[in-house]
Amino acid sequence: MAPVLLIEGLSKRYGSITVADAVGFQVARGECLGVIGPNGAGKTSVFNLIDGTVSPDGGRILLDGMDVTRRPKHLRARLGMARAYQVPQPFPDLSAFENVLVATTFGAGLSASDAKAVARETLRLTGLWDKREVMAGSLPLLDRKRLELGRALASQPKLLLLDEIAGGLTQMEVVELVALIRSIKPTVAMVWIEHVTHALSAVADRLVAMNFGRVIAEGEPQEVMNSPSVQEVYLGTVLDAPAAD
Ligand SMILES: Nc1ncnc2c1ncn2[C@@H]1O[C@H](COP(=O)(O)OP(=O)(O)OP(=O)(O)O)[C@@H](O)[C@H]1O
Ligand SMILES: [Mg+2]
Repeated sequence: MAPVLLIEGLSKRYGSITVADAVGFQVARGECLGVIGPNGAGKTSVFNLIDGTVSPDGGRILLDGMDVTRRPKHLRARLGMARAYQVPQPFPDLSAFENVLVATTFGAGLSASDAKAVARETLRLTGLWDKREVMAGSLPLLDRKRLELGRALASQPKLLLLDEIAGGLTQMEVVELVALIRSIKPTVAMVWIEHVTHALSAVADRLVAMNFGRVIAEGEPQEVMNSPSVQEVYLGTVLDAPAAD
């Protein structure tokens, strides 16, 4: 299957710091590519390059075969890229429904009635239907994560970029979030940066490991986690064992 996202030779330097050094990978619809690596490895920087927050010094970004490397961020969003952040960023004084509605109206550019229908569907999908009238600022963390996912999904993306969305949750909450992410997976191409590796392993088909802006390993999750280069990077820390499927 043709990849939804293909990046090739993506590079970015800030002075003497190389945050991306010829990074390349691809992901197809229905597939989840996990990204691991220590703090400062360049994971979020690669997302910033992919979604157009930052321009690369070199390399290419193809979305559904279209070169978007020099296209502005808002156009990439319109073409089907969406991103969810570790720290959910809802409008706290708007309800869960209104937050998703903002995304369907302005993010996806739908008509008023279509936007409402998609917002309702998204709230059901993310398990927030019963809390649709609750102000986003009053929702507990797991629900704010669901809302963050919902806001990203509201634009009906082809590509979903998740940056440490499981951070800060309890074990039980992670299990619930993983179930939700698994249910979304067939409809999108997903790239998921995550330090909670047991959550990642329950969803990801492949992993990319990064260090110092470079991809140091790529392949089947267990194989990447056990690879000598990854073990060396995490020396002294215990990598969670991948969860059984
Ligand atoms: N705008 C910038 N100017 C200078 N340095 C930057 C800039 N953005 C990121 N960096 C540096 O680039 C490196 C990679 O940062 P990045 O946020 O991509 O890491 P990360 O892998 O996402 O780490 P974490 O797991 O902590 O989120 C870090 O050393 C960071 O300080
Ligand atoms: Mg990061």
